[in-house]
Amino acid sequence: MSDTFIGWACTAKDKPLIEMELNLRGWDDNCVELDVTHCGMCGTDMHALDEDWGPTDFPCVVGHEIVGIVTRIGRNVTNLTVGDRGGVGPFAHSCHKCQTCLEGHENICENGFIGTYNANWDNGDKTYGGFANKWRGDYRWAFKVPDSMASEDAASFFCAGITSYAPLRNNGVNEKSVVGVLGIGGLGHFGILFAKAMGATVIALSHNDKKRNVCNELGCDDFINVSNKSEMAKYRKKLTHILGTGSGEDFKWEPYFDLLRVNGIFMNVNSPGGNLPEFNAINFVLSQVSISGSAGGSPTDMEHMLEFAAEKKIKPWVTKYKMADVNQAIRDFRDGKPRFRFILEN
Ligand SMILES: NC(=O)c1ccc[n+]([C@@H]2O[C@H](COP(=O)([O-])OP(=O)(O)OC[C@H]3O[C@@H](n4cnc5c(N)ncnc54)[C@H](OP(=O)(O)O)[C@@H]3O)[C@@H](O)[C@H]2O)c1
Ligand SMILES: [Zn+2]
Ligand SMILES: [Zn+2]
Repeated sequence: MSDTFIGWACTAKDKPLIEMELNLRGWDDNCVELDVTHCGMCGTDMHALDEDWGPTDFPCVVGHEIVGIVTRIGRNVTNLTVGDRGGVGPFAHSCHKCQTCLEGHENICENGFIGTYNANWDNGDKTYGGFANKWRGDYRWAFKVPDSMASEDAASFFCAGITSYAPLRNNGVNEKSVVGVLGIGGLGHFGILFAKAMGATVIALSHNDKKRNVCNELGCDDFINVSNKSEMAKYRKKLTHILGTGSGEDFKWEPYFDLLRVNGIFMNVNSPGGNLPEFNAINFVLSQVSISGSAGGSPTDMEHMLEFAAEKKIKPWVTKYKMADVNQAIRDFRDGKPRFRFILEN
């Protein structure tokens, strides 16, 4: 049995990815191994390649929307068997012992979660993501793909899907909600699909007019170009929730506080490098709104999301690229071309 894999590795910032043979993590009883068939491309992959969040440990194989066929399982593995299709997202390990893990928020593990790439397993081995032919890791963060989902559709649920689903679900979105989705990319388009499936009225909040028609096709009830003052004014104090997935450097909180109803909530999942801007304390207090953060989702959120998505037949909008064309896919991603997720296929 081979303990190596072929990954599309980045060896330094601004360098194209190259094929490289690397070591899989050391095998143990908690391991599952996948032959990767598909992997989605996430904004976070760009942050890691660009070292936006801090130094990247090169060579780095990114990709955390992984789907593959299970080829091997360790003795402790209960949720997957050889031949199943398994999926993995941005989290690869948590301690499962701290208070936060025991309360079911393993994604916020007090001892620090271990990322699917650019991190180290607790045995010291490096973690590598899914721009690769194989993945090996802990079964507790690997999930069975519902039978009704095509693998190319399933992949992006494991990051973009869960990151949008969890805050909507955990903040009580339902048929009475009016949800704004800010930034209509990979996460944002899932935000629209999930909020609609939860029964909400959904308003796209985009930074220009380019996605006006496509947001209609996605099922939005209305579209706001956030730079258009009269469109923003139309929804003053009308939204119960905003899911913030993307914005530029000119982002300011106040226009969004103004869109939210009393006790409305701005759920931020957008994670650019650096700080979010300051806001005026008095405006914030007088708006009586909340801001919350959300990171992916817990394993329980993941199971619920997969079940809900299968039941509601939620189908992401994806474009496939051959894994070998990964560098072209990255260029197109950086040019803002995804409508709405790129999926690499082996
Ligand atoms: N919290 C988490 O656990 C988590 C998980 C995954 C990803 N993320 C983060 O979420 C963010 C979005 O990821 P993604 O994969 O959805 O990216 P994406 O597909 O590139 O979508 C981001 C969207 O935000 C808007 N946007 C981006 N840059 C902008 C700019 N400079 N000015 C104005 N608008 C801009 C665009 O939407 P419009 O054209 O509609 O304006 C764009 O389509 C990233 O920061 C990523 O790291 C967080
Ligand atoms: Zn991601
Ligand atoms: Zn923990």
